Amino acid sequence: MTVPISIKWHAEKLAILNQQKLPTEIHYLTLETIEDVYDAIVTLKVRGAPAIGITAAYGLAFGANRHKTANLKEFYQLLQEDSRYLAGTRPTAVNLFWALERLMKAVKNANTVNHAKTILIEEAKRIHEEDEATCRLIGEYGLELLKTAQNVMTICNAGSIATAKYGTALAPFHLGAERGKQFCVFACETRPVLQGSRLTVWELQQSGVDATLITDSMAAHTIQSKQIEAIIVGADRIAANGDTANKIGTLGLAILANAFDIPFYVAAPSSTFDLTIASGTEIPIEERKAEEVTHLGDIRIAPENTKVFNPAFDVTPAKYITAIITEKGILYPNYQENIKSLIGSQIGVKIGL
Ligand code: MRU
Repeated sequence: MTVPISIKWHAEKLAILNQQKLPTEIHYLTLETIEDVYDAIVTLKVRGAPAIGITAAYGLAFGANRHKTANLKEFYQLLQEDSRYLAGTRPTAVNLFWALERLMKAVKNANTVNHAKTILIEEAKRIHEEDEATCRLIGEYGLELLKTAQNVMTICNAGSIATAKYGTALAPFHLGAERGKQFCVFACETRPVLQGSRLTVWELQQSGVDATLITDSMAAHTIQSKQIEAIIVGADRIAANGDTANKIGTLGLAILANAFDIPFYVAAPSSTFDLTIASGTEIPIEERKAEEVTHLGDIRIAPENTKVFNPAFDVTPAKYITAIITEKGILYPNYQENIKSLIGSQIGVKIGL
């Protein structure tokens, strides 16, 4: 039983597990150019906030290698254009902007263009490596919080394949399995793109975690009839007051947790906090194409000319969140104050891209 890995840097090459093809095909794609990376993120071949950030960082480093100028100022301007290009892939997950900004900052220490190119790839590798350690810590804290729980619900895929390894919301389950603690995880299928059924169930099966698939509309009944003890989800962006954007359907689960009086946990690294925004109302919500709703794969399931609203994320108000699990520790309300002191001023992702 192994925890699957979706991003591999090996022999100076980047390979990603093509998540569009899961669970029927396990296929790693080699990404070599900034355009390859752009396409992989936009088409959800790689997805999940931390994985998007890591891949984008490699993409910026690849893009830099094609610039021939030896003039640092000119190089920096070209890099900024590349950064803007990659920032245009997906708007909600702040890890994307955080990673790009981190590379743009790191490269300021360069003496020459060649030095800058080395810094960029080294920084991308560092972001990649750090994420695994970060997720492991989130898993440890999460395991502590879920010490007495067995039946836990989740949505989307905030798992190993959405990060460097282990994941955020799924990290406690993987670590639990390594140590002989068996959770029963109820995975919401996560319409429209089915990250729950295609990705989470597959991922948990790979590492030997007991997983049960439900459709999203079964959540309330399942909480009631299967003694669900907690809900744990990932995050794409957390505002300074704790309001959290995550996959569409998360808000409904948070309200259900409140109604059934069970804890609702958010698990996320500090790179998912955006302390430049005061509340969730400022989080940009990605809207995706209508076909994701009107079709299941290639099969049409709605009439021609159906009007569609397809937001990919929703925002859960902080008041519904029992705790936020980070690599630095567990945050409880009052989030406004506690986020500030734990996450600090480290993040100021107002991207000037
Ligand atoms: O559209 P996706 O699949 O990128 O959405 C992913 C999520 O909503 C995850 O829960 C979030 O990014 C956290 S991944 C550790």
